[in-house]
Amino acid sequence: MNTLLTGASGFVGKNLSAYLLSEGMSITEVTRQSAGNNAITWEDIRQNVTDKTAYDVYIHLAGKAHDLKNVSAPEEYFLINTELTKQLFKHFLSSGAKDFIYFSSVKAAADAVDNILDEELVPNPQTPYGLSKLRAEEYLLSQPLPTDKRLVILRPCMIHGPGNKGNLNLLYGFIKRGIPYPLAAFDNRRSFLGIDNLLFVIREIIRNKDIPSGIYNVADDEGLSTKQLVKLIARAMNRSARVWYIPKGLLIAMAKIGDIGRLPLNSHRLQKLTESYMVSNGKLKRVLKVDRLPFSVEEGLSNTIKSFG
Ligand SMILES: NC(=O)c1ccc[n+]([C@@H]2O[C@H](COP(=O)([O-])OP(=O)(O)OC[C@H]3O[C@@H](n4cnc5c(N)ncnc54)[C@H](OP(=O)(O)O)[C@@H]3O)[C@@H](O)[C@H]2O)c1
Repeated sequence: MNTLLTGASGFVGKNLSAYLLSEGMSITEVTRQSAGNNAITWEDIRQNVTDKTAYDVYIHLAGKAHDLKNVSAPEEYFLINTELTKQLFKHFLSSGAKDFIYFSSVKAAADAVDNILDEELVPNPQTPYGLSKLRAEEYLLSQPLPTDKRLVILRPCMIHGPGNKGNLNLLYGFIKRGIPYPLAAFDNRRSFLGIDNLLFVIREIIRNKDIPSGIYNVADDEGLSTKQLVKLIARAMNRSARVWYIPKGLLIAMAKIGDIGRLPLNSHRLQKLTESYMVSNGKLKRVLKVDRLPFSVEEGLSNTIKSFG
């Protein structure tokens, strides 16, 4: 089994390469630099010069990540997330490979979630990241797919794993410095995805040809509130969690003052820190024919946090 893998140098790519190799699969990377052993370049893809019979599975991870500070030019997202996907999919369609696994994101569906995000929701992303991922999905789905090929679009939520805290960084830093979490009065709920669950999902998709083409959310089984997350991180660091229950009304009033006075806490920031974002993995588990993913949200997060010593 040979996999053509883009984005192999990234966080998911490094973990996935090591995992697939340990499972006895071979990998050819698509890189921006010069091709070497077991590597070809994006120029090779564009020029269509590679051996089309060499690969069984294409896994497309390369992408421009969600920029939380919003400093990147919007066009960059479309050039990388949408256009590279088109180039690679054209290559796939003219190849002998059977499977194309595309890494989209839950952000292609929604920036905010009221109840629980499933695949039925009509996508309405607002950020260039989400829009560029959605455009890529739309392109893939618009191309006629030969009956002997599969197209699996994965929409992961925030992924974390040893060596990469995702956006847990901020909380981790606060807890490390003993700074209390002041928003414990809010009971939000968010989904996470531990890298080990993601690796399991990819392995099952590659192995089980009965899993049909389609769009699948990927998330751990349970969610956590930020307050629970703070406690879990503190436990994994062998520290006691410091959480403050400041009345919600008071915090909302302080945030409103922050809107006028440009203070660190304003309404937008408060909303971001306390919003829920729950993702259903029900569709994925139905096709995988499992009741649960192998690792609980607590196990995954503890492993990640402990990896930072
Ligand atoms: N991490 C998450 O929480 C998360 C959640 C949902 C979806 N995803 C998606 O999953 C995929 C992998 O995520 P990740 O966290 O592993 O990302 P990452 O660590 O930022 O790695 C991104 C990869 O894309 C490559 N890349 C970036 N710009 C490129 C360009 N212009 N041309 C070719 N390659 C380029 C990078 O190659 P270089 O080393 O050459 O820069 C790197 O290998 C991404 O598509 C991401 O959008 C991630």
